[in-house]
Amino acid sequence: MRRMREDYRPGSKPRPESPFLIRRMTREDLPAVMDLEKASFRNPWSFELLQRELSHDWSVIFLLEEPLPEGGKRLLGISIFWIVHDEVHVLNVATAPEHRRRGVGWELMEATLAEGRTRKCSLATLEVRKSNEAAINLYKSFGFRAVGVRPNYYVDEGQPPEDAIVMVLDF
Ligand SMILES: CC(C)(COP(=O)(O)OP(=O)(O)OC[C@H]1O[C@@H](n2cnc3c(N)ncnc32)[C@H](O)[C@@H]1OP(=O)(O)O)[C@@H](O)C(=O)NCCC(=O)NCCS
Repeated sequence: MRRMREDYRPGSKPRPESPFLIRRMTREDLPAVMDLEKASFRNPWSFELLQRELSHDWSVIFLLEEPLPEGGKRLLGISIFWIVHDEVHVLNVATAPEHRRRGVGWELMEATLAEGRTRKCSLATLEVRKSNEAAINLYKSFGFRAVGVRPNYYVDEGQPPEDAIVMVLDF
């Protein structure tokens, strides 16, 4: 196993040996983020939606990048969340398909929750597809617990609707 989730401490900083860099998204990142969204989701966010998200005070978009040996950086993952009153609401976490199981999602979630704690939030919430075992495991590793179901929340063309599990983490 790459590392022990049991080591997770609320508000802990990314591990010093992490090879990844996390920063906030800017308008220049829109094309690369769109590519990542399309590779990750059946219903990716549109260019316009992402662009609008960048202008909202309550919205934060973190990008996780890997420095390349030849110089430059490669985008590996993204986390989109809102900070409203004392709540972090996680809307979107995605890792580029070819870079999954390298700890990208975990580092993005850690940075997302750390931002919430810094901004004096007291809880984090999210919805996740019932069938999304990878994401559910990721969220559970941070202590999120399932508190409810939104029936038929996800509606995809040509597919039966799917329930959302509502998860909450108290800080
Ligand atoms: C969910 C997702 C973000 C995880 O990203 P990732 O970078 O692969 O995750 P990590 O490598 O940091 O894994 C962290 C933990 O998540 C869980 N996990 C991740 N992928 C998993 C999988 N395929 N099956 C089961 N558990 C998984 C594990 O607990 C893992 O810890 P471990 O590697 O020690 O076992 C990624 O699978 C993804 O982008 N999925 C498509 C988009 C999506 O569904 N996003 C979530 C809904 S908003």
